[in-house]
Amino acid sequence: MRHSIPENPFATTHYLGPDYFCDRQVETKKIIQGLKNGNSLTLISIRRIGKTGLIHHVLHKLPKSFKPVYVDILDTENLNQFLNRLATSIITQFPEKTGFGEKLWTFIKSLRPMISFDPLTGTPQASFKISKEETEININAVFQFLESQSSKIVIAIDEFQQILQYPEKNTGAWLRAKIQSLKNINFIFSGSQQHLMSELFTHPKRPFYRSTQLLKLGKIKQLEYRNFIIKMFEKYDKSIDRDVADNILSWTDRHTFFTQQLCNRVFSNSQHSITDEIWKEQAYILLKEQETMFLSLRNMLSVHQWKLLLAIAKEGITYKPTSQKFIQMYGLSTSATIIKNSLAS
Ligand SMILES: Nc1ncnc2c1ncn2[C@@H]1O[C@H](COP(=O)(O)OP(=O)(O)OP(=O)(O)O)[C@@H](O)[C@H]1O
Ligand SMILES: [Mg+2]
Repeated sequence: MRHSIPENPFATTHYLGPDYFCDRQVETKKIIQGLKNGNSLTLISIRRIGKTGLIHHVLHKLPKSFKPVYVDILDTENLNQFLNRLATSIITQFPEKTGFGEKLWTFIKSLRPMISFDPLTGTPQASFKISKEETEININAVFQFLESQSSKIVIAIDEFQQILQYPEKNTGAWLRAKIQSLKNINFIFSGSQQHLMSELFTHPKRPFYRSTQLLKLGKIKQLEYRNFIIKMFEKYDKSIDRDVADNILSWTDRHTFFTQQLCNRVFSNSQHSITDEIWKEQAYILLKEQETMFLSLRNMLSVHQWKLLLAIAKEGITYKPTSQKFIQMYGLSTSATIIKNSLAS
């Protein structure tokens, strides 16, 4: 896929292409290596650290002999919607007029979905109105069709934990059995709900237990992120000192989304030279924008829970929230109450 030159080099919503993507070289190599060796992978991390971005980066970097499909199932609620999303993703990502696309479209149309086009974006939408049994048959048919292609196929399913919400019983076990039988298709699974994803792939009682190579995604390293920030500003004839970039990274704690969001704002609200005053002002504005959300969060918590949350936020990182030292420093109640509060939240 071609990427045009963005107005702002700091992505905050979607992947802007390899020139605007920071580092992740080791992870990218590891995933591509895994896929080349016929392994499926699962990406796990805390929220907004860059799983979806990394998936797009990997799919972009895959050798031409691979055909990648990205499927986000966040807003699917049952297996039928899963099929709709899978078919829609396939026909959106391979336009009908391309060689591979033509074959795919002919096949998808043979399953007789309703195909409509979004009036605003023109993107196609496939939807099937069929029974559960027919849905399973059709999902299987899509996999089998892809399995029979000469190119290797990679299907990345994002927000995969959503399958746990499907009303159909044993979706996981059924999918696992299908997926396991495929030789020509490898999968990348990812999801924003870390605890559910971990449970799905690391709990011995779950069907996906040990079925894939697990990759824990951490924060981008200081040096790489600093150099990236400097390079992005320079690309657009703006300058930022090393120290200022480091100060930004220290304030965002190198969290990808926060860093991208702050840099995006700093970029759009600056002329040529980026100073500490400029980023601090933007950081303040960002915090102010979130204030209502933080306050509504306070209403959802008990007084004890709120005090505990504030204490952890002030501490930054705490490994022993039940220690006497921590309790005394922040005027919290007993360690038993702390355990009870953290379990309730
Ligand atoms: N290495 C990177 N370089 C530049 N931007 C990135 C990088 N990784 C992610 N981003 C951007 O940061 C933002 C947040 O990343 P992303 O959505 O990929 O996180 P995520 O881990 O998938 O979040 P969630 O847990 O909500 O699913 C996105 O706008 C993405 O484009
Ligand atoms: Mg994501």
